[in-house]
Amino acid sequence: MDKREFMRLSVHEIKTPISVIHGFADLISYGIISEGELEQTVERIKKEALRITKLVDELAFYIGIKEKLTDINFDTVDIAVLLSRVVRDIKENTEENIEVTVSGEGSIKGDAGLLTVMLLHIIENGIIYNDREIKRLICNIDKKQEKVILTIEDNGIGIDKEEREAVFRCFYRIDKGLSRGNGCNGLGLAISRGIAQIHNGAINIDSKKGKGTKVTIELGE
Ligand SMILES: Nc1ncnc2c1ncn2[C@@H]1O[C@H](COP(=O)(O)OP(=O)(O)OP(=O)(O)O)[C@@H](O)[C@H]1O
Ligand SMILES: [Mg+2]
Repeated sequence: MDKREFMRLSVHEIKTPISVIHGFADLISYGIISEGELEQTVERIKKEALRITKLVDELAFYIGIKEKLTDINFDTVDIAVLLSRVVRDIKENTEENIEVTVSGEGSIKGDAGLLTVMLLHIIENGIIYNDREIKRLICNIDKKQEKVILTIEDNGIGIDKEEREAVFRCFYRIDKGLSRGNGCNGLGLAISRGIAQIHNGAINIDSKKGKGTKVTIELGE
């Protein structure tokens, strides 16, 4: 995607929740919203405002890594430790029934902050795009020469073969309704790929619709 297209889509994405807020605010000021519906409408406005905040933060983050504006601090990072921390944080902040296993180990020279953001995005996806009662994530860390190969496999809804590459494009969401309901902007995988590239690595998806998704992250020295 060229910069012009990125700008056009970014503006469109920001305008959408702003229009919703304007719409509801008008309904309130014209007295169209009844007393009983007021609380619910205010909640809706707040939700859209939060959406804009998340979107702008993610956009700034994405532009930061793409344009090399972000400070990067390389250090020795133990991937198993980082992953366990991310899983613990996610479990503490969700009511979803999640089962995560982590096997293997490996360390790289990397930026712990950026890698944490990447892992958060990938694990969150495995939970959000998952309609199972128990959301299972199987994580494995392997070493291959100088590289660490991390795989994160979920038992979620899966991705069609034709869309496995498209999902890395900014703002690309397979089910806009499902993503919107969860406040998702379609930037997580684009950000994650950017972070993998900063680490001389790559990120790819292997998946089958209805059968879950396996994300493979290769991280270099
Ligand atoms: N593990 C997964 N299983 C099924 N579908 C997925 C998975 N991960 C991503 N997707 C699909 O790919 C799309 C893009 O994912 P991405 O993480 O980039 O954005 P998002 O989750 O929509 O929003 P954001 O991560 O910015 O909050 C998602 O909207 C979803 O349709
Ligand atoms: Mg996501």
